[in-house]
Amino acid sequence: MRIFASLSIAALALALIPAAQTPAQAQAVAQTPPMGWNSWNYFFGKVTDKDIRDSADQIVATGMKDAGYVYVNIDDTWEGKRDANGVLQTNEKFPDMKALADYVHSKGLKIGIYSGPGPKTCAGYEGSLGHEEQDAKMYAEWGIDYLKYDLCSFHEAVMEKQAPNDKAAQMRLMIAAYEKMDKALKATGRPIVFSLCQYGWDAVWEWAPALGGNLWRTTDDINPHWDRIYAILEQQDGLAKYAGPGHWNDPDMLEVGNGKLSLAENRSHFSMWAMLAAPLLAGNDLPHMKPEINAILTNRDVIAIDQDMLGKQGTRAYSDGEVEVWTRHLARGALAVAVLDAGDNRFSTHPFHLDMAKLGLHGPQAGKDLWTGKPITLTDQMPIEIASHDILLVRIAAPK
Ligand code: GLA
Repeated sequence: MRIFASLSIAALALALIPAAQTPAQAQAVAQTPPMGWNSWNYFFGKVTDKDIRDSADQIVATGMKDAGYVYVNIDDTWEGKRDANGVLQTNEKFPDMKALADYVHSKGLKIGIYSGPGPKTCAGYEGSLGHEEQDAKMYAEWGIDYLKYDLCSFHEAVMEKQAPNDKAAQMRLMIAAYEKMDKALKATGRPIVFSLCQYGWDAVWEWAPALGGNLWRTTDDINPHWDRIYAILEQQDGLAKYAGPGHWNDPDMLEVGNGKLSLAENRSHFSMWAMLAAPLLAGNDLPHMKPEINAILTNRDVIAIDQDMLGKQGTRAYSDGEVEVWTRHLARGALAVAVLDAGDNRFSTHPFHLDMAKLGLHGPQAGKDLWTGKPITLTDQMPIEIASHDILLVRIAAPK
């Protein structure tokens, strides 16, 4: 009887200890690029528990949840100090992280958090150096579903200190730091999206997928200005082959609805991030979102391009003056075509003529204009007039 009791206690203990995740399970969390919202691009260091709750409420109320936005991500500045046992406390802006996670989950959403491998985060808060397993366990206990892990002080405090002037050794230290957190996350057994943020250094796209990264930043920070958004877009050329189900290039979070971006710029930004199979993490002030911004963020046809099951990132087919034409191959043989007028002066290429041969297409192609919702037929050399910083985005179901 006693043997039986101790056996069943052992079985119970085993059932309670979560099994570590396999690499396949880890990739399953991001079969399509993650969609949600992140606090940084609008709130920066001011974000509070209330802002996160309000944003979760709004994701539901504005139809964003129904359109596919799931993650509500707290960026930097939630961290307090470590206690005597090394357990990281939250600061006064986030009185009870478990309660906040429960609240977000109660809305049918998921919650993300932020840390970094260095002693400090980018905003100077407590990082995870030397506490990786402890932090990962705590995230899992809180019910965290997503971690953005930001290099920041690790560069100066560890890489430059431990391997001065040795770039290769510095890179190895960085990779080991990301690997360490990935292992710690997997050991919790909780599916947690792992987002690498180290600004696209050292060809991160070549090594991040193998160590379990679900997405990795490909550039330095975005800001709500057309020049910055376009500069980031240009840096994505050539990276398409590294993206696929479970692991994505991250050209940074969306600025749609932020700053003084025009409607055309917001549309183009959103369209091009969809062409890039980028994670769609909105970063705007949801409680004060204008209807036209809501309409952009919830355009189902554009989201369907981003979330296409084939998971093949789009590429630039050609450019002609200030106009660029990008294509993205979609599931069931469909094709997305984006014609972007990136320039400030539309007359430089007015009107633009479409060159179908450069897209590998032959003859007229019937499709749908995803911003007007109307049918459109693309024909060779057709003149297309697009205002400065605006875009034509077309889905062709059966390209010929
Ligand atoms: C870095 C990241 C940003 C943001 C801030 C927070 O700059 O690139 O996305 O997370 O840190 O401090």
